[in-house]
Amino acid sequence: MSAKVLDGKKIAADYRANLAQEVEQLKAQGVTPNLTVILVGNDGASQSYVNNKKKSAEKIGMSSSIIHLDESTTEVALLEEIDKLNKDDDVHGILVQVPLPKQIDETKVLEKIAPEKDVDGFNPINIGRLYAGVETYIPCTPLGIMEILKHADIDLEGKDVAVIGRSHIVGQPVAKLLTDANATVTLLHSRSKDMDAVLKRSDVIVSAVGKPGLVTKDVVKEGAVIVDVGNTVVDGKLTGDVVYDEVSEVAGAITPVPGGVGPLTITMVLNNTLLAAKRAQK
Ligand code: GUN
Repeated sequence: MSAKVLDGKKIAADYRANLAQEVEQLKAQGVTPNLTVILVGNDGASQSYVNNKKKSAEKIGMSSSIIHLDESTTEVALLEEIDKLNKDDDVHGILVQVPLPKQIDETKVLEKIAPEKDVDGFNPINIGRLYAGVETYIPCTPLGIMEILKHADIDLEGKDVAVIGRSHIVGQPVAKLLTDANATVTLLHSRSKDMDAVLKRSDVIVSAVGKPGLVTKDVVKEGAVIVDVGNTVVDGKLTGDVVYDEVSEVAGAITPVPGGVGPLTITMVLNNTLLAAKRAQK
């Protein structure tokens, strides 16, 4: 058996085409959704991520700008910058690229972003709202994973799902969304005992660790759906957690790296920015 490839680029392109139509409608009412991204420092990967976010926003008709601050920027200066954006009615979505330089307390920064403009969904207020089941912004990678699963021909109701990795950005929120979709979720992490036994019985595996080679053929059930969130650069190549070639022989469906979850994450930044622009009109 050869797994169905869950083509993130195609799924993202279709989703963005719909977003573009909605952006057009909003613009006809005189509102141009705006995403403003703050980048601190010169990390190469972060620079390419934020450029990609800006380009993707502009491609669907949004306006977007990058505020690029020096590596030595103080926490106070960054908080002031966020404060200005919070007060600017033309800015609908604010995203501060992480990680931040060590002199800056990330939590303070995330708490400073106005919850109604927090399109990453990283402000603790929005995290709390997610768990309380009230209007919020859901973090983009988990939202993207759920969109991909819609294309995997699997009804999550009652299914055994293993999520590997318990980060605040991916593992924990996606476990929450999967639970809401009535799956039975096991959240695995570095201290988990007998991870292999859990994986072998799972109908869906979401791996979000950043450890190439972690998920091999021998721990995957025949026909299981595999979502690979890993993105580690190995010899200049983006590499997932899943040993793709061998796992595709047994899985029912699988996401490639690159071209799987990644394009959906950016798509959901755009989705949340549009949502923020719409909510601001209410
Ligand atoms: N750094 C890596 N992923 C992300 C993300 O989704 N949002 C932000 N703000 N920074 C990141």
